[in-house]
Amino acid sequence: MPELAYLDGDYMSIEEAQVPVEDRGLQFGDSLYEVVRLYEGEPFRLGPHMDRMRRGAEVIGLNLAAAGDLERIMRDLAEKSELDTAFIYLQVTRGVCPRNHLIPDELEPTIIATARKLQPIPEEKYSRGSVAFTRPDLRWARRDVKATTLLPNIMSRSYAINRGGYDAVHYEEDGTITEGSVSNFFCVIDDVVRTHPADERILAGISRATVLECAEALDISYEERAFTVKDLFEGASEAFFSDTYSEVMPVHQVDGKDIGQGRPGPVAQELRSAFRDVVRRETGTG
Ligand SMILES: Cc1ncc(COP(=O)(O)O)c(C=O)c1O
Repeated sequence: MPELAYLDGDYMSIEEAQVPVEDRGLQFGDSLYEVVRLYEGEPFRLGPHMDRMRRGAEVIGLNLAAAGDLERIMRDLAEKSELDTAFIYLQVTRGVCPRNHLIPDELEPTIIATARKLQPIPEEKYSRGSVAFTRPDLRWARRDVKATTLLPNIMSRSYAINRGGYDAVHYEEDGTITEGSVSNFFCVIDDVVRTHPADERILAGISRATVLECAEALDISYEERAFTVKDLFEGASEAFFSDTYSEVMPVHQVDGKDIGQGRPGPVAQELRSAFRDVVRRETGTG
């Protein structure tokens, strides 16, 4: 079976899966999501994805326990779809009720999941490097919660993609760089890999954690310490994104200005290669 959906206990085609108009996910974006990548049908770091959803649910008071065994659902969906290279998208909304900001007691969460094929990024994109565009971070102040309210991210990502970019680089009012719209962002300053700390201002990416583990294993110095747009332009010899789709995507240009030598740097390439090894090891692929 190819692309497939799961909705509240049943498997069906994606077109058949429909939620009621009064679902709070639709009305308010009152919902959480995760995107897990399948490598040859095997999910990568499903456990950490689900831990992140549980932490988000605690913050917003969503009764995730009532949603059942989500890990099982995702594994079953992966198996039933028989897809090799794919994304499993999971969304849990707070449930269906007459529209009201006040959260009613004892709502049944709605569980939506889809399995969709993904087109891997061509190798030449990695070797050429990507471009990025700085954009103000307009999202809310709890970006550690993977909420579906993504309008600011849609705007900044569209801005970047329409100009041939891979992603936007978000910055706050004081110039501090937080993350991308679908990714975390890193740079190398004075031979040290830098990325924003995993606090409430960014999503703690599963790929970000994998990159930092790789840096540790390779003895590459890194610091989870914020840096600004000025630091990026004046001091960075390299930059790159990390996310579930690209794993590690080198950035050679931001806002039309070269970063370092204007090509993917050795640290990003080394980390990408180590990341690929982790994927192969953990998913038993390749
Ligand atoms: C805002 C944001 N930051 C970072 C990431 C990267 O997270 P991960 O590595 O878990 O894909 C994502 C992924 O969707 C995201 O939406």
